[in-house]
Amino acid sequence: MCGIVAYTGNRSATPILVHGLRKLEYRGYDSAGIAVQREGSLAIYKKEGKVANLAELLGDYRQDPEHTEAHVGIAHTRWATHGPPTTGNAHPHCGGENRIALVHNGIIENYRPLKAKLEAQGRVFLSDTDSEVLAQLIDSLYEEDLVTAVLAALKEVEGTFGIACISREEPGRLVTARRGSPIVIGLGEDETIVASDASAIISHTRQAIYLDDNDIAIIDGGKVDIRTLDAIPVQRDASDIDWSPDAAEKGGYEHYMLKEIFEQPEAVRNTIRGRVDLERGSALLSGLNLTPRELVEFRRLLIVGCGTSLNAGLVGEYAVEDFAGMLAEVEQAAEFRYRNPIVGAKDIVIAISQSGETADTLAAVREAADKGALVAGLVNVVGSTIAREAGRGIYLHAGPEISVASTKAFTCQVSVLLLIALKLARSNRLSRESGVKIANEIGRIPELIQEVLEQNEAIAEVAKDFVGYEHMFYIGRGYMFPVALEGALKLKEISYIHAEAYNAAELKHGPIALLDENMPVVALLNQGPGQEKTVGNVEECRARKAPVLGVITQGDEEAKAACDWVIEVPASPHYTTTITATVALQLFSYHVARLRGCAIDQPRNLAKSVTVE
Ligand code: AGP
Repeated sequence: MCGIVAYTGNRSATPILVHGLRKLEYRGYDSAGIAVQREGSLAIYKKEGKVANLAELLGDYRQDPEHTEAHVGIAHTRWATHGPPTTGNAHPHCGGENRIALVHNGIIENYRPLKAKLEAQGRVFLSDTDSEVLAQLIDSLYEEDLVTAVLAALKEVEGTFGIACISREEPGRLVTARRGSPIVIGLGEDETIVASDASAIISHTRQAIYLDDNDIAIIDGGKVDIRTLDAIPVQRDASDIDWSPDAAEKGGYEHYMLKEIFEQPEAVRNTIRGRVDLERGSALLSGLNLTPRELVEFRRLLIVGCGTSLNAGLVGEYAVEDFAGMLAEVEQAAEFRYRNPIVGAKDIVIAISQSGETADTLAAVREAADKGALVAGLVNVVGSTIAREAGRGIYLHAGPEISVASTKAFTCQVSVLLLIALKLARSNRLSRESGVKIANEIGRIPELIQEVLEQNEAIAEVAKDFVGYEHMFYIGRGYMFPVALEGALKLKEISYIHAEAYNAAELKHGPIALLDENMPVVALLNQGPGQEKTVGNVEECRARKAPVLGVITQGDEEAKAACDWVIEVPASPHYTTTITATVALQLFSYHVARLRGCAIDQPRNLAKSVTVE
């Protein structure tokens, strides 16, 4: 996804901007650029490809007065939405003779009519982008000052934006605003760093203000003046970014993904800390802000999300039905939003999102809220849009997840969903004794994950035999079906092997036609309901020469004998085996992708946070 960094203060802006862009590289992008203000002019540098290409273009920016004497600047990494990833389409974009420069995240939905209006005024466009239309519009409205021009332009805009903007005529001034695309303002000593996420800020300051939608900030050095887009002053309190600088680094691992896989025991400990009530066999989830009566009176629990968050939600659906005997459904967020769903005041909607900025999930949150549902967020990034718009919910506290492939987010999301299911169950028919058992099992998740991580070398060995395949099936039943979905997603998104997940019972209804020696099958054989049927499916696969990798429970000799390869996970109830089996498949996918030489942390075509629909 696109990234923004901006600076105003006493230091040279360029080194701070380049460093910040490097911290945002994980978001996925295809071009980069900066603009710096010096002595009444703006210097623009931009280049397709990686930040390294831009740094090469900048030359010796730590010595060159063009840069050492420039104390205000904006910078951007672009993930192409309108127009190909070319230097001309890279940000910053300017209006009229470089009087202003703008970087933009989001989509200007009415850019075509705006562009036509500006062209009719004689303006010439240099790019295919919607963002340049906004830059030109601001310039066309620039009379008194930059803030007035930006406010007037944003009133004409439909769509989403996170912007930073400077003018050659206003030394030291930086203007930033947001609607639908996050902006974080890092507060320093007589300086301010603005970014689209905290990763670009934490090496300078941990004090940050998160703009709300329709906020604008006028910044001069260390002075930050926040208003609404109607120019009404507002107060936004600063919060402490609880990530340490090295937490967002790789910590000695080859890839962020491997680091984050190995962080999972600690991440889950942080997620469940203070939330497992062993005394009452329940869960302490004050963030849901739901009374016991509200917990039992609601009609249905609706879970919405995308990708990995959607797969975690399916585990949640199964657990709520299993523990609480209550109606729960999971919906792909975009489907939910565009289907005119049956949802209302008697429903609780849980929106799952690691980033808290996924556009489809945010849209589903707004749809559910408009229909009167009680909405809660299950989010990792503090202060993110979904977290704030939901108004209530549970933060994962999993720490920054940098790799595009979501790993610890899934295990922490499932851990929380199990706690929610337990709390609902204890508000209904589940006895304290049964609740204590489940609470204890949830408390064991970190150690169970650790046991799987200790098999890393063995799993890497198995992965060697799969490097040459181009297609794979993943099959599972019951709680293991979401695991099959998540395992297949992990493999395809980082190794580019085409992987499909099916409920094991579905094989006979068509997919089995594809089985041959070139179509290996990963079978989740973890002693859940119907295990013997799934072993039967494995035998059907092998009868058609399809090799089978079984993810089995330690000591299950029958399952072991049925497969060509096995990965063993510790014995645990199937609702926590969803986590251990998934961790096994995270490692499997990681090693296959590594052996295939893939760009694991930044897979082609993918972005960490999909903030466009
Ligand atoms: C998962 O590995 C993918 N990166 C992707 O499916 C992701 O889970 C999805 O885009 C949702 O992101 P979110 O959790 O930040 O909302």
